[in-house]
Amino acid sequence: MAHSTPIYMDNHATTRTDPRVVEAMLPYFSEVYGNPGSVGHEYGAEAHTAVELATASLAAQLGADPQEIIFTSGATESNNLAIRGLAERNQRRGKHLVSVRTEHRAVLDPLERLVQQGYEVTLLEVERHGSTRAGWLDPEQVAEAIQDDTILVSVMLANNEIGVIQPLAEIAAVCRHSGVLLHCDATQAVGKIPVSVRELGVDLMSFSGHKIYGPKGIGALYVRRGSPIVRFSPQITGGGQQGGRRSGTLNVPGIVGMARALELCIDELPTEEERLAGLRDQLFAGLQERLSGVQLCGPTLDERNPAGDRLRLPGNLDVAFGDIDGEAVLIEMDNLAVSSGATCSSHEPGPSHVLLALGLSEDLARSSLRFGLGRFNTPAEVDSAIKSVTSAIEKLRKLAG
Ligand SMILES: Cc1ncc(COP(=O)(O)O)c(C=O)c1O
Repeated sequence: MAHSTPIYMDNHATTRTDPRVVEAMLPYFSEVYGNPGSVGHEYGAEAHTAVELATASLAAQLGADPQEIIFTSGATESNNLAIRGLAERNQRRGKHLVSVRTEHRAVLDPLERLVQQGYEVTLLEVERHGSTRAGWLDPEQVAEAIQDDTILVSVMLANNEIGVIQPLAEIAAVCRHSGVLLHCDATQAVGKIPVSVRELGVDLMSFSGHKIYGPKGIGALYVRRGSPIVRFSPQITGGGQQGGRRSGTLNVPGIVGMARALELCIDELPTEEERLAGLRDQLFAGLQERLSGVQLCGPTLDERNPAGDRLRLPGNLDVAFGDIDGEAVLIEMDNLAVSSGATCSSHEPGPSHVLLALGLSEDLARSSLRFGLGRFNTPAEVDSAIKSVTSAIEKLRKLAG
């Protein structure tokens, strides 16, 4: 019997590369394959031009200047470059950093390393489970945490598990007032909601190709130019590419692909946000209708800030079922690809640190499922997902007696 592939609803983990992105990338593997640093001949010059055009496009889509974009291998490297690079360079000014409990491990781990090296890190709390703004960070908390020796605040724009969107513009105003630089991990937000570095007022911002229907292995760090100067130490040194800020031969197909991917996201954003929010609401309503004890993790689905902006990513749903193990549900469903809060990531044992930070018990966190709806999902797939989850949970509940 032919094996039918499971429905993919794990778009926070990664996305399928859009065929239009693949098409844009293809010439840069075997036709325009020069090293963009070798501008003395046509092969290199063409690759260099392609990188310049892609950089200009990416920067324009994010409200940045092309010189403010540094290419990396992904958001993990961008976060490391921002946090460790800045801490290393500014240690004589201070050794205190501020971040949030619900950040991605690609922020928390570099911070933990800094603590081992003698830095001090304050991790802020977020609104608790049950609040309509669960997971939200009050900018007031940032103001209270800043000390005379604080050199960096790092707050993500959208959370990869509960989709909460943080008030970055307000946090930036707090940081600016105190003369402290602000880094933002915008990996889950770029391409999903409107993002402009100038409007947000961030000094550094990380993002990644594979979360926006682009390729894996490419990302970028935006570093604001102008005053006050953002100084950081490079973390990867060598050939001096990108002004020495990040050495290594540029990933030309990746850069072209990420730029095309962002163009497509931005073109489709006005309709896609509404479409995904509709699918997500359909999914939540269906689960609530068929199953008892469904608890929403994170902010209320239709929650907005006073300016009318969403407080939750349109394609995100995270729900806990209370009495079953999320991993067991995943094993039970062979036709649906989602992830569970039983393990925060496949590399981290134990329940999700994000859900624990909201105040969920370990058991409740373990019983959760995270859905990331994306470009290729349809209403019919949502109906199938509701059926799969319902029958898996009903079966597990029956077995548990
Ligand atoms: C919020 C956030 N930051 C950073 C990363 C790491 O991104 P990359 O896979 O590009 O290194 C992820 C990926 O899961 C993420 O969701």
